[in-house]
Amino acid sequence: METSIEQILEEALKALDDASDVESVKALSVRYLGRKGAVTLFLRSISQMPPEKRAAMGKRANDVKNTIDKALKDTLRRFETAQTDLEARIDVTLPGRPFPLGSLHPISRVTMEICDIFVRLGFDIVEGPEVESDWYNFEALNMPVGHPARGEWDTLFVDHVPPGGEPGTTVLRTHTSPVQIRTMLDSEPPIYIVAPGRVFRRDTPDSTHMPVFHQIEGLLVDEGVTFGHLKATLETFLHALFSDEVDVRLRPGYFPFTEPSAEVDISCIFCDKKGCGVCSGSGWIEILGAGMVDPRVFEAVGFDSDRYTGFAFGLGLDRVAMLVYGIPDLRQLFAGDQRLTRQFA
Ligand code: FA5
Repeated sequence: METSIEQILEEALKALDDASDVESVKALSVRYLGRKGAVTLFLRSISQMPPEKRAAMGKRANDVKNTIDKALKDTLRRFETAQTDLEARIDVTLPGRPFPLGSLHPISRVTMEICDIFVRLGFDIVEGPEVESDWYNFEALNMPVGHPARGEWDTLFVDHVPPGGEPGTTVLRTHTSPVQIRTMLDSEPPIYIVAPGRVFRRDTPDSTHMPVFHQIEGLLVDEGVTFGHLKATLETFLHALFSDEVDVRLRPGYFPFTEPSAEVDISCIFCDKKGCGVCSGSGWIEILGAGMVDPRVFEAVGFDSDRYTGFAFGLGLDRVAMLVYGIPDLRQLFAGDQRLTRQFA
């Protein structure tokens, strides 16, 4: 037994010599002096020894305990002082280590820029839900059940019957135009809003189509609003977004919720109307759809179409991002490759 306590002492002092940091010293303290530590167990075993040996063994074991305890404390202090010294030596005036910053996605950038332009023109920004009822997405926009134009929006139906609703009446919105209806039901003219957001169609991905893409809707309703106001607003907006140099052209178009309707083109920003691959040789790029709010839409929301007129427009944000940043294929914007997005930091 005598050798055993001496062995414990020898081992403990050697282990302390080898300790390299505060943590390992704390672990040794547990190993030797903890509740189940080697010294503690030894002290407990003394009661089993022959009575004549107990007093001497008890004294020796207590001496060993005190020696290890002191050695532990000394070593711990040594390490702690070394650490404080090191901290005292850190030069806080050195420049910090850089860490990688995230960057905004090109579609977010374009959306923010367009919203900024319209806010400067006095428009508010509003948002609507991505899961819509058939009524907001089609019916109130002058596309009753059976209207042929419904087929043009390759609709994704949601397999969910709202309380009190009928099957097939819930859709993923195919455009941002239902936000027009929600806004008009919620407020009175004058209304000046733009509504950016995600929209969904059963389109197969290719260089200019995605099944999930982004639009921004514009709606202005007031007394005395004319097609001239629409044209001037769109020209101001497109000149601010691209450049004063681009030409803006309106062609007759058709949307069930606007009358008259127009397709709006800008002169190709890549070839200046000479004709190139981006504009398919035409010199023009189609950029948005627009028109005067159809009186039937005003009827659906309870506005007096003898008193109020208005215009609306809808623009594909992904295609604008392609133009602004010269991205040749829409799919690249959704591949999640940070090498693309990092270029726009
Ligand atoms: C509409 O969605 C109308 N709601 C726009 C509108 C609003 C007209 C208000 C009049 C008044 P359209 O289906 O043409 O229209 O889509 C508008 C734009 O979305 C297109 O010009 C195009 O830029 C973009 N777009 C359409 N389908 C896709 C797609 N699959 N992927 C990416 N962009 C698309």
